Formats: sequence, C-alpha cells, structure tokens
Amino acid sequence: MTTATDTAPQSRQTWSADSYSTHARFVADLAGAVVDWLAVKPGERILDLGCGDGALTRKIADAGAIVKGVDKSPDLLAAAVALSLDVEEGDGHELSFDNEFDAVFSNAALHWMNQPEKVIDGVWRALKPGGRFVAEFGGHGNVAAIVTAMRAVGMMRGGDETLAGPWFFPSPEVFADMLAAPGFGVKRIGLFPRPTPLKTGMKVWLKVFRKPFFEQFGDDMENVLQEVEDLLRPCLCDARGNWTADYVRLRVEAVKPA
Ligand code: BEZ
Repeated sequence: MTTATDTAPQSRQTWSADSYSTHARFVADLAGAVVDWLAVKPGERILDLGCGDGALTRKIADAGAIVKGVDKSPDLLAAAVALSLDVEEGDGHELSFDNEFDAVFSNAALHWMNQPEKVIDGVWRALKPGGRFVAEFGGHGNVAAIVTAMRAVGMMRGGDETLAGPWFFPSPEVFADMLAAPGFGVKRIGLFPRPTPLKTGMKVWLKVFRKPFFEQFGDDMENVLQEVEDLLRPCLCDARGNWTADYVRLRVEAVKPA
C-alpha cells in the first residue's frame, strides 16, 4: 500500500499505521497469489514498490531475497522499519533506481498512482535486463458499487463527487499496452474478482480508504457516511450484517528483455 499522489491537498489520502494494521490487515493477508507469481529466489534483489507497513516486504525477505521497500507514507514506513526492513521514503512516480533489481514487486499500491506511464518508466529503469515486474492492484470494475454510492450521495448533496474515486483501475488490455510502451513483454495478466469480507464493516473501510471524500462535508460527515452505507447495504451486506467489498484485482507479470 502506498499513499495517494493526488495533487490537490483536499483530495490527499493519509495513513495511520495503527489504523491500517487494525482495519486493513487483509490487504497483505490476501496477497498470496501475487507473492506466488513473484516466486522469490534466494539472493535476488527485489524492490517492493508501495511497501506500506512492510508486512509483505518481510515475507519476501524471509524467503531469502535482498529487499528494498519504497513508500510515500512516513507513518507506514516507521512500521516497516520496526520489522528491520531496508526501506526509504519515495514517490512511485519518481523512482531513481537504475539497473539494480532482479524483480520489482507491488501489491495494492499502483491504483493510488495516477500517472502510470511515469511509474512504469521508473520500474523499467530499476530492473536489470531480464528482470521481472510482478504486481497486483485494483483492476477495471474494482469497488464499483462503493464508488457509485459515494458519487450518488456526493451529487445529491452538491459536493465534489470526483473525490469519490481518484484511483487508477485499468483493464488488462489498457495496462498491457502501457507496459509494452517501454518494451516490457507481458507474460501473464488478468482480472480476478475477489469479494473481500470487511470484518470491521463498511463505514470503517470508507473512513480508512476515502477520508477526503467524506471530510468535504465537515460536521455532516457522519450523516454522509450513513447515507452511503444505507445505499450499499442491499448489495454488499448479508442478512447477518456481514459486509463484503466488491474488489477486482488486476494481476500481472511482465519481463524486461535480457
Ligand atoms: C484496493 O486495494 O483495491 C483498494 C483499496 C482502497 C481503495 C481502493 C481500492
């Protein structure tokens, strides 16, 4: 996970390591498939782009790789440092590594980076010839119901509904074309619907992941949260009160030719 790169201050997403660890632990817990795609070999040098609190970076290091984590959030990075990881603060759009890594890995981070061509160029430069880019993030249709509910309430209340969905959720076709531009060969890519149980509920998810949308309503924020939750209940909450988010993942492995 990384921080948003939105430029307008009111749309900037911020993170707290404590809140992330309590309410978003599932992000790392559900990343088994992309870690499998990475298939770490001991001794490899791997860059974890958008490493967040380092939960997956630690796993990759424990598998024998020499890992460097990069993230934009100082608070999340402090949690990664506490796991004895080599991390640095940085923006995924401004990667300055050159020919250094056998693999670049990224989980649940690229959808926060709204200039993907710049990110891909940085990844390309960071990789050695023959290196691979293995990533998973929100794909086309990700959290579509949630975004639509926020937009609907935002419009009805005369707010800025564009704050409801700042994310980059491409289709495989669009992302594959972006990867091809610098010369990546796409080995495999696909969309994977992954309905995701929200143990701490929908309101908490909304507050953790899209605070800037709700903050625009000031003292009315709790009412707006309630309206969005009410709209979503029929499709994302079961009869026992269990919430599920409509996640769709895009997973990809691409190779820089040797
Ligand atoms: C995701 O991991 O797909 C995601 C997380 C937070 C907001 C939007 C998408």
